[in-house]
Amino acid sequence: MAWWIATRQKRDLLEVLTRDAYTEPVVRIPVGKRKVFLVSEPELIRRVFVDSRGIYPKSDLMRAALSPLVGEGVLVSDGETWEHDRHMLEPAFAHMRLEQVFPMMLDAVRDHAAHLHGLGHGVVIDLEEELSRVTADIMLRAIFSEPMSGPDAAEVFAAFMRYQRAAPQFDLDVILRSDPDDPEPTPPGVAEDADTVRRLIGRMVQKRHTALARGEAFVDFAQAAIDARNPYGAPLSQERLIDQLTVLFLAGHETSASALTWTLFMLGRQVGPLAALRQEVSDVLGDRPMAFNDAKALLWTRAIFREALRLYPPAGFLTRVALVDDMLGYTAIPRGSLVVVSPWLVHRHSALWRDADRFDPTRFAEGAPAPKPGTYIPFGMGPRVCTGAAIAQLEAQLILAEYLRRFDFDPAHPERVMPVSRVTIRPRGGVLCRVLHRERTPG
Ligand code: HEM
Repeated sequence: MAWWIATRQKRDLLEVLTRDAYTEPVVRIPVGKRKVFLVSEPELIRRVFVDSRGIYPKSDLMRAALSPLVGEGVLVSDGETWEHDRHMLEPAFAHMRLEQVFPMMLDAVRDHAAHLHGLGHGVVIDLEEELSRVTADIMLRAIFSEPMSGPDAAEVFAAFMRYQRAAPQFDLDVILRSDPDDPEPTPPGVAEDADTVRRLIGRMVQKRHTALARGEAFVDFAQAAIDARNPYGAPLSQERLIDQLTVLFLAGHETSASALTWTLFMLGRQVGPLAALRQEVSDVLGDRPMAFNDAKALLWTRAIFREALRLYPPAGFLTRVALVDDMLGYTAIPRGSLVVVSPWLVHRHSALWRDADRFDPTRFAEGAPAPKPGTYIPFGMGPRVCTGAAIAQLEAQLILAEYLRRFDFDPAHPERVMPVSRVTIRPRGGVLCRVLHRERTPG
């Protein structure tokens, strides 16, 4: 295996890939302790994600990477456990309508924009850290009705940032080196940070029970999960409740922070699309803050976000394991193989996208044909598709509109920014940016 990897040029997080991975429907990686197949043909992706769920559960690798943090949460659980919990949570979360979450988002965004403004014109920030801060604030308000300025919420964020930065890489190199019979232990520091996040979330749940006993009432995700009952009338156990709320915190902010970091970074070099976004924001909003109903009119803003999700999908690798022998097209998949669907790869595949590497938001502009099923999968596909896609899109429109009308983000060393795949695809070492205040600051 060493010779195979050594012959590849190491340029990005798919650094061990050959050109055929970007052109062929299924590629068997000829190295590693286990059989690994990269699947990029839309019909075959559909088979893995939609038509044969029982055959391709989430992989041991994904569970090992995330379970220290989310336990048996719906992101990593499978089979009866997943079905039970997802059915239980779905109706509960449906009560948390987008309209209810939007004012919490707006409060967090306005607080954070004021914080950025207060730093002063031309100050250098780490874009990734600042966007993690605001997206975490949004999720903490949506889950616990507690802003990040609250004592517990601030601690959760600090522990999570330590966890995120220390989490082992999760890219193709790592996938290939993995040994199913000898899984790598979680590094001690990472396990400790994951424990701290869980302990703090447990404390916030405890505080909620105390407030409920005092007769207080809440409308948020934590309350929806506490009130959820299975068909026999049983609530989630305390441990499982912490699992599911930690999933929401992780899946709900880490992905959005990654996607928005890349969007703002790319827009720094895209004069035309950025000017068109600002024009749209000015036409739709004038001088007032964005309201919930504006989302359907901010179509170019949405198109830019969707294009950024194509080029930088936060979840770069979705890994499954074959429980039985199977065929994917003409390729035999032996039992135990690791089947990898990489949104990163699919979205840059030359057979699926014209000028695949070019940033071109017109692909998603009003009136453009919808991408063919299985070619655009930033939120996954099938029964395990992301439950937060609509929230993520709304949040992105709000952040892009409110920040770009106020600020320019000028990357300090764009040539040094390199993607690395950890919990999500992040810029190695962050993105240092000068924040320049624009003249008019809306209320
Ligand atoms: C840009 C933002 C986001 C992206 C790119 C994203 C992406 C994804 C992807 C790819 C999956 C499927 C993983 C797999 O098949 O292995 C997923 C699952 C999930 N996402 Fe998201 N997500 C985003 C935002 C959110 C938000 C805001 C929430 C919650 C408020 C959320 C909650 C979840 C949950 C609970 C699951 C697990 C679903 C299940 O398996 O039952 N996500 N997400």
